[in-house]
Amino acid sequence: MQRRSFLKGTFITAGSLLVGGAAVYRYLTGQEQPEESKYPQAIEKMTKEGSKKNVLVLMSSATRKGNTDNLADAYIKGVSEKGYSVTKVYLGSMQLEGCHGCGACQHNNHRCVLKDGMQDIYPLFAECDTLVMASPMHFWTISSRLKAFIERLYAISTEDKYPEKEMVLLMTSGDNKETTFDQPVRYFHILSEIFGNKEKGMYLAGDCKGCEEETRNIDGKHLDNAYKLGLEL
Ligand SMILES: Cc1cc2nc3c(=O)[nH]c(=O)nc-3n(C[C@H](O)[C@H](O)[C@H](O)COP(=O)(O)O)c2cc1C
Repeated sequence: MQRRSFLKGTFITAGSLLVGGAAVYRYLTGQEQPEESKYPQAIEKMTKEGSKKNVLVLMSSATRKGNTDNLADAYIKGVSEKGYSVTKVYLGSMQLEGCHGCGACQHNNHRCVLKDGMQDIYPLFAECDTLVMASPMHFWTISSRLKAFIERLYAISTEDKYPEKEMVLLMTSGDNKETTFDQPVRYFHILSEIFGNKEKGMYLAGDCKGCEEETRNIDGKHLDNAYKLGLEL
């Protein structure tokens, strides 16, 4: 090791210990100090050797093993059989705030000042090829957790431009009318356009039995169809 880099390394370590780690590290290296995840129970990684795609599934229902979670798992089964790597994030197991609109990210190297679950999701989003948004219908649209995630992507934008991603929407609802999914579907098309017009399908499962019943229930045909959609990715 060269003398200069040895001295720099020693100074960073000593300074971090004496003055307060994160600030000194940031000052000397220009980077955020990597932090341990606060939400290890919220992220499941299924890495496949030689995978050609990284698929990020955001499961935004708060209920594990509920309708939306089961629908997401059926889709993941199909995607895994194709040999793709999948990361599943349980948004309901994290703290996740909507964007505060402070604009700091636009002057701060695209870093959001809010330190919550999104800090775990930003790198996963950056490395994914496909974003799968799984949501229960809540008051005729997507869940507030999923909406919070979408708002927070503002931090990574440059002049309102976003990276290209393949996009998939999976939803469950109690109703099953012709118009039930109108709002989220329209919103999904708008989002897909922002992310480079690479829609890879959606599956909308109506007639699910939700928390108003003793046990939640989603028809097996929905799970079969979601599985097939996963195989088509
Ligand atoms: C707060 C809340 C709002 C809901 N709003 C709607 C709605 O607007 N339309 C609808 O068809 N179902 C609605 N539902 C029913 C859920 O979408 C449905 O039961 C869903 O499958 C639950 O998924 P989960 O088991 O993943 O939570 C609502 C349920 C809750 C708890």
